[in-house]
Amino acid sequence: MTPPSAGPRRILSGVQPSGKLHLGNYFGAVRQHIALQDEAEAFYFIADYHALTTIQDPSVLREYTWDVALDYLALGLDPQKATFFRQSDVPEVTELAWILATVTNMGLLERAVSYKEKVERGIDASVGLFSYPVLMAADILIYRSNLVPVGEDQVQHIEMTRDMAGKFNRAYGEVFPIPDYRLDKASKVLGIDGQKMSKSYGNTIDIFAEGKPLQKRISSIVTDSKTVEEPKDPEHCNLYSLYSLFATDQEKQAMAQRYRAGGMGYGESKKALLEKINQHFGPLRDRRRELANNPDQVETVLRDGARRAQAEARKTMALVREAVGMKAASVV
Ligand code: TRP
Repeated sequence: MTPPSAGPRRILSGVQPSGKLHLGNYFGAVRQHIALQDEAEAFYFIADYHALTTIQDPSVLREYTWDVALDYLALGLDPQKATFFRQSDVPEVTELAWILATVTNMGLLERAVSYKEKVERGIDASVGLFSYPVLMAADILIYRSNLVPVGEDQVQHIEMTRDMAGKFNRAYGEVFPIPDYRLDKASKVLGIDGQKMSKSYGNTIDIFAEGKPLQKRISSIVTDSKTVEEPKDPEHCNLYSLYSLFATDQEKQAMAQRYRAGGMGYGESKKALLEKINQHFGPLRDRRRELANNPDQVETVLRDGARRAQAEARKTMALVREAVGMKAASVV
C-alpha cells in the first residue's frame, strides 16, 4: 500500500474554453489548479474538443481557447512546472475515447445529469454531447492521472471514468490506474445578484475587467436598502462575502464590525472591494497584456506542453492497443 504521505503522482484537469474568466472560476478552480502545480506533477489542458459540443463558430473557438491560455499563464501557471496544452494537439485521446466507448454501457451515459441539464438548456443533443463523458474519461486515463481536481458538477463524470477504467482493466488486464477526484475548494462565490456566480446567470465579475466597466459592475452589486446609519448584517451580504475572498482575517473582522456598528454605507464597502480587486489582479492584468502581445511565446508554451503530453499519451496507447489485440500505431 502507498503510504498516505506519498500523495498523488499525477494531477490532471481540463478547462473548457468558455469566454471570460470570472471571480467564481478563479476562487472555485483556477487558483487551486495553479497552487497544485507545486504539489505534484500537473497536467492541465484546454478542452477544445469538448467545447465543440457547444461552440460551432471557428473564430469563437479560437478566441476562447486563446483566452484560457492567456488567463492561466497570467494567473501564474508555470509551464516549467505544469504541462499545459491544447486537448486537440494530442489527437490520440479521441482514439482512446473510441476504445473506451466500447466498454461503456448506454445506461451509464443515460444517467449523466450534466447531459440532461445541457439538453434542457437548449443545447443540441448531439452524439458528441452524449458521449462527452467518454472523451473526458479518455483525457484522464490517457495521461494515467491519479487525481482530478474538479467542481462538484463534474464528480459524476469522474465516477463514470472510474467505471470505464475498471471495466477496461477487467476485460483486458490492469492498464489504467483508477483516478480519484478532489473537489475544488468551492469557496462559494456569490454573484452581483446574490445567487451563485455563473456565466449563465449573467451575474459575474470578470477577473480581467478594469477601469470604468469594473467600477460599474461593482456599483451594480445588489444589497438591501439599509441607510448609511443603520447597522448591517455582514453574514447575509454578497458584497461582504466578495470582499472576504480577498481580505485577511483581520480585515474581514474590521469590515464586519463596521457593518454591525452602522454609519458605513454600502458605497464604502464597494469601494473597499474595488480596491482589493485592483490590488490583487492589477499586476496580473499587465502580465496578461504582455502575453497577449507575445503570441509566439504563448504558442511555444502550448506546443512544448503538447509534446510532453503526447509522449505520455503514446505510451499509454501502445499499452492499450496491445491489450485489446492491435498492433502499435506506426510512427511515421
Ligand atoms: N468537463 C470539464 C468541465 O466542463 C472539462 C474537462 C474536460 C475535464 N476533460 C476533463 C475536467 C478531464 C477534468 C478532467 O469543467
